[in-house]
Amino acid sequence: MPTYPPRNVSETAANMALIRALETAKPNRQRLFSDPFARRFLPAWQRALVTPAKIPPWRRMLESFFDRQAPGARTSGAARTRLIDDWTRAAVRNGAAQVVIMGAGFDCRALRLDELRLSSVFELERREMLNLKSRFLADTSASHVRRVPIDFLNEQPEDCLVASGYSPTVKSLFILEGVTNYLDRSAVDSVFNLFSHSAPGSRMIFTYVHIDAINGTFPAPGLTALLERLRNLGEAWTFGFRPEDMPDYLAQRDLRIVADLSATDYRAIYWRQPMLLKGYEFYRAVLAEKTNAAR
Ligand SMILES: C[S@@+](CC[C@H](N)C(=O)[O-])C[C@H]1O[C@@H](n2cnc3c(N)ncnc32)[C@H](O)[C@@H]1O
Repeated sequence: MPTYPPRNVSETAANMALIRALETAKPNRQRLFSDPFARRFLPAWQRALVTPAKIPPWRRMLESFFDRQAPGARTSGAARTRLIDDWTRAAVRNGAAQVVIMGAGFDCRALRLDELRLSSVFELERREMLNLKSRFLADTSASHVRRVPIDFLNEQPEDCLVASGYSPTVKSLFILEGVTNYLDRSAVDSVFNLFSHSAPGSRMIFTYVHIDAINGTFPAPGLTALLERLRNLGEAWTFGFRPEDMPDYLAQRDLRIVADLSATDYRAIYWRQPMLLKGYEFYRAVLAEKTNAAR
């Protein structure tokens, strides 16, 4: 195992791994998904805490501690992971033969979803994160995965992908989970331009943060403390959309919205008693499809 914490690790990517590791510790019939790789990415002290999380009172104590620190992050993060798993499986069943996971962090869908084993998967991330991920997963077989280094703020995803064997004429799925909020307008436009140049029927799954959360005015518990914590981590949120602007933004790129769900919506799909779960209502997940219009 690589030593931890290494330099240049994304703390927010490691946090998603913690959410997935906690969910995976639940019994089969209770959990929303299983990510057996997630715990590998945790620092040793967190791994030590999560290992006994199969014991329900211990797990509930960890969950309630987590929920007090960041209201809604765990419950929305787990529901979102499951939602994106479901949308991903549907896109692959619908013929997407290439899956491009942007800002992949410690996302292990390429390994844990059997449906992706027959696809070409491209994982785009910062070089240091990709190197670290490859070291943590050194014992896994992932010949269908190509890890493509990129800095979205300074490089064009289309150039990096084509150089790595991606074909724009093949029906594809693009996944951008937890990433647009770290970019700027020009980098977000480049990602959507890539999608708009893809084969008809391609799909894109992406998350975005409501713009009022970026400027701190969205009414959600714990938002001010969350924004301050992100700034202290050096991973401040920098970009958001207004949901009402989304249909036009996509239509201008020959893309159609299939669903645009708030955390309240997707928690209601997967959690029992979702009305008891509060926080992160500003964190949205979108499924969009490339229309047949020629440009
Ligand atoms: C919240 S994490 C989400 C990771 C992963 N998608 C998941 O759901 O587990 C955000 C990820 O975006 C990556 N990221 C942020 N800005 C980036 C940039 N300019 N270029 C490349 N990757 C970036 C970070 O390194 C991090 O892994």
